[in-house]
Amino acid sequence: MDRIRIRGGRPLGGEIAIGGAKNAALPLMAAGLLTEQRLVLSNVPRLADIETMAWLLAGHGIAVERKGPEGRDLSLGGAITGTEAPYDIVRKMRASVLVLGPLLARVGEAQVSMPGGCAIGTRPVDLHLKGLEQMGAAIALEGGYIRARVAGRLRGATIVLPFASVGATENLLMAAALADGQTVIANAAREPEIACLAICLNAMGARITGVGSDRLTIEGVAALHGAEHRIIPDRIETGTYACAAAITGGEMRLLGARLADLGAVARTLGEAGVMIEDGPDGVLVRRDGTLRGADVMTEPYPGFPTDMQAQFMALMSVAEGAAMVTETIFENRFMHVPELNRMGARINVHGASAIVRGVGSLSGAPVMATDLRASVSLIVAGLAARGETVVNRVYHLDRGYEALEGKLAACGADIERIAG
Ligand code: UD1
Repeated sequence: MDRIRIRGGRPLGGEIAIGGAKNAALPLMAAGLLTEQRLVLSNVPRLADIETMAWLLAGHGIAVERKGPEGRDLSLGGAITGTEAPYDIVRKMRASVLVLGPLLARVGEAQVSMPGGCAIGTRPVDLHLKGLEQMGAAIALEGGYIRARVAGRLRGATIVLPFASVGATENLLMAAALADGQTVIANAAREPEIACLAICLNAMGARITGVGSDRLTIEGVAALHGAEHRIIPDRIETGTYACAAAITGGEMRLLGARLADLGAVARTLGEAGVMIEDGPDGVLVRRDGTLRGADVMTEPYPGFPTDMQAQFMALMSVAEGAAMVTETIFENRFMHVPELNRMGARINVHGASAIVRGVGSLSGAPVMATDLRASVSLIVAGLAARGETVVNRVYHLDRGYEALEGKLAACGADIERIAG
């Protein structure tokens, strides 16, 4: 298994090109199931999760081809020939459940392996299922599978989500696009990736209003057609490299990034003493003064994203003073804490909160983590630590960060991948 070795302590400087958002690309690929015509997505990142979704769609009869000079355009098309999302794919990637709504809406049935527990908590899909039931689907759980059916078309419904789930909003939005009549999704999640999906669906002929708000209204149409759509820049990749620049006392231009999408991340970095602002070709981030402790609580967008919690905690571990980090979205999302502590951080967890007492410096160590964002937080910490840090289980990073070591090395980091 590959590892990444970092010799820390070098301030980062230079430019990093921010890729397309993984979490926008995955639902958009599932939207390829909604039409028999061709959907072309551009600015698609080259990541393991994208390959997994392509593999899943191939099983449904949708061919996914990479095109364009760097293979960043995806062309999707084909007739639906299968409606099962098998265990072997769903267990690798929970976002596989996003084929449920499109398959039901398009061909009236789907069998999706039930996503189980995962490293960051139990993560049920009850809100996806309840919403689809309200739209007329009959759903049974059998042999580890969600078996969903509808006679004829799904029917529009008013669905009030008790929690603004990203995945449930996306699944229901896609299903509603082809339902009979009007659907309202109230307390919808407002993540920029959902607006990106809705804009593409509208380009395919859907009739969605309220895009970007917590109330989406969808007038169902009989069929959707092909379209071309560009994926938004990845706000989590942007925030991660901003933390890397900040922890090393460096200065970076994050090309193509959009400050407006960062929500609470930009504000919180500001509170911590990091300068972050819009530039002509992206986002500029710089830290030349002292890092200060800043409290954060994870929340649905535009609040502080759970997917930035681990990286921000790494940053806070060397800030002056203390920071309280509260995780409200997922249980068990503090797996990076013991690893950061092995690098010299002083972090104590009490239930859903962690108290981070800043230390003067971290020291390198062999570390590993069990999820994507936890792994990258150890990279961020390693960039600032004295000596050598070796991050094991790099396959987690490859799910969500394209060419991570190359991008950081180009900004002056001493970082390399060790194969084996
Ligand atoms: C998406 C993101 C993930 C991010 C998360 C929260 C993708 C592919 N993944 O995941 O990176 O961390 O949003 O911003 O976009 N819940 C239920 N019942 C449900 C659905 C969710 O209880 O039916 C709970 C989950 O267990 C979790 C919370 O709601 O505690 C958030 O889940 P959700 O917003 O649905 O996240 P995902 O779509 O899985």
